[in-house]
Amino acid sequence: MTIILPTPTRSSSTAPGEARLAVRHLRKVFADDLRPALAMLRQGASKAEVLERLNVSVGVVEASFDIRAGEIFVIMGLSGSGKSTIIRLLNRLIEPSEGEIRLDGRDLTRLSRSELVAVLRRDMSMVFQSFALLPNRTALENAAFGLEVAGVAKPVRRKAALAALERVGLGAYADRYPRELSGGMQQRVGLARALAKNPTIMLMDEAFSALDPLIRSDMQDELLRLQREDARTIVFISHDAEEAMRLADRIAVMEDGRIAQIGTPAEILRAPADDYVRAFFRGVDISRVLRARDLAGPSSDGAPPLSGLEPVAADTPLHALLGRVAMAPGPLPVVEADGRLVGVISRAALLTALDRSGTAAMGARHG
Ligand SMILES: Nc1ncnc2c1ncn2[C@@H]1O[C@H](COP(=O)(O)OP(=O)(O)O)[C@@H](O)[C@H]1O
Ligand SMILES: [Mg+2]
Repeated sequence: MTIILPTPTRSSSTAPGEARLAVRHLRKVFADDLRPALAMLRQGASKAEVLERLNVSVGVVEASFDIRAGEIFVIMGLSGSGKSTIIRLLNRLIEPSEGEIRLDGRDLTRLSRSELVAVLRRDMSMVFQSFALLPNRTALENAAFGLEVAGVAKPVRRKAALAALERVGLGAYADRYPRELSGGMQQRVGLARALAKNPTIMLMDEAFSALDPLIRSDMQDELLRLQREDARTIVFISHDAEEAMRLADRIAVMEDGRIAQIGTPAEILRAPADDYVRAFFRGVDISRVLRARDLAGPSSDGAPPLSGLEPVAADTPLHALLGRVAMAPGPLPVVEADGRLVGVISRAALLTALDRSGTAAMGARHG
């Protein structure tokens, strides 16, 4: 029997895990005449070579990747590696020099300005590092700003903005001006402004980088909490390895305008693609990043786990597992929230992972 599935017609009907944004052979050079630089890049030239030969600055040498529905996709890399250029290309704040950006299958690079505006209004919001609040407007008016630009009627946008402020814990501060709010609160207003539009995609460029460490950690929790409720597609730029590991479903590491590696935090920690990627995650505490499911494997003798052992939740971070695994009479079963058995976690697997992280932390081993 053939089952015919309905064709998705709207973005929100994209199934979790499917590509929402598909980027192919994207390049960005900052020059009036793009051709000589693009010709060099197609031949495999680096940013430095193009700068040297043509005195042209390259933002993105080449990038191809998919961003899946419902994931937090973190782009990280050193300053100048092209992170902001990529995120601004995604909503055409800047125009690509070459390549495709498909949103739910539709090539954004081919849309007219007015078609683009309609798509962006519905699907995308951006949050900036600098908060970008208007000083002479209250928190509520700032949160409503995106909707105001979109031409939404005042009562409707005030209602949506107030609901968004309440979601970020600022319902009581609606009438305050930015100068009356702390940095963390201002960034929450920035987040509320993005949420008020109820976008299916949020673009966040170093949104938390200007905040003090404790407030930053609060905002990360807040984002993860909102994400559990909303399951939006989030593109989040960070230059901080801990932040990336904490937030990301998958990470793309950028190096000199290219993507050096894409993978889950666990995949990248286990097998960094090169020394640049390795250096980024040096010193990250692997026991706080890897979870039981990352180490769960088949039992070595193929036998089911010993009965009577209390299963470990797949989400448990390694550091919280050490004692239990060490004391257990055998490998512990690891189960997902729905009760599905993922595999077992043995003392040997745990020790190997932690040992490897020690080696990675010292940067002693190559390849
Ligand atoms: N408007 C611009 N004009 C010229 N060069 C630019 C422009 N914007 C970015 N660049 C260059 O593109 C490269 C990547 O910059 P950017 O995307 O801002 O990096 P990141 O966000 O990773 O720090 C840098 O070399 C930068 O100098
Ligand atoms: Mg940047």
